[in-house]
Amino acid sequence: MNCEMISRDEKLADYFGVTTAMVPLLDELLRDLYALGSFPHDIVDQMRCVDIDYSSRILDVGCGKGAVSIAVAQRFQCRVLGLDFFESFIEYARMSALKASVRHLCTFIQADVHTDLSDQEPFDMAVFASVGPIFGTHVDTLRRLKTAVRPGGYVLLDDAYRTDDAPIGVPGYESCAGYDETILQLTRDGNRIVSERVYPPAAIQQMNQRYCQRICERAEALKKAYPNLSDEIDDFVAREAEENRVLENHMACATWIVQLGDGEQSG
Ligand SMILES: C[S@@+](CC[C@H](N)C(=O)[O-])C[C@H]1O[C@@H](n2cnc3c(N)ncnc32)[C@H](O)[C@@H]1O
Repeated sequence: MNCEMISRDEKLADYFGVTTAMVPLLDELLRDLYALGSFPHDIVDQMRCVDIDYSSRILDVGCGKGAVSIAVAQRFQCRVLGLDFFESFIEYARMSALKASVRHLCTFIQADVHTDLSDQEPFDMAVFASVGPIFGTHVDTLRRLKTAVRPGGYVLLDDAYRTDDAPIGVPGYESCAGYDETILQLTRDGNRIVSERVYPPAAIQQMNQRYCQRICERAEALKKAYPNLSDEIDDFVAREAEENRVLENHMACATWIVQLGDGEQSG
């Protein structure tokens, strides 16, 4: 195993909150999930309110298995570039695009978006769906994505905001803002919210239950195959359940389309 692979495993382990020993199992644990926390068909419905068409170019940052990219390509017949640092997700995305007859429109590349985001021609829209605070606050995230988007272009952000002040110990959620603060952050730098969709709690609960059940089934099988990792597999499942509890009780999930303004820009 070379140094690049070791650091890639470390990055994945860090993002998914597991040890590097668990990284080879992640693919199997998440095998039955396609969209990973987002609602691709709702997202493409929402995108119809802006001027996206077959000539547009869309960047899907942290594209996972390509569920959103593929839905976008199917709906608008436009070109989509999906970036994700998880190689097996990228392979799955390529296969899925082929099955969905949009392989000619979709390019999926394994890349760390911390370093490889701005190497491309500016995009009309950057999608950032259920990736979490890898760039920091919403202000930081929009400034970072702005480096890849044409002037006056859009960011579609699928995320969550806090609905109460209860202390939250789940990594990635501790720093989540409430609704008013979220809107303030999204509209900094001359940005304008052109569309907002808040998902009904029941939809989130249903999605979580579906995910949880599938992950649990895979986890049970994996514990038999890898008894030495049994505790870590249990920890992974417990963390998923805790994350779902937090999402269902203390957060609301939403998608915003933000038109980027010409205010401060970070490099
Ligand atoms: C919860 S999934 C969401 C996937 C997809 N957007 C969707 O809605 O189905 C978050 C994805 O972000 C990817 N990711 C996290 N940090 C990343 C980074 N620094 N570079 C590239 N991908 C990253 C993960 O590998 C994961 O596939």
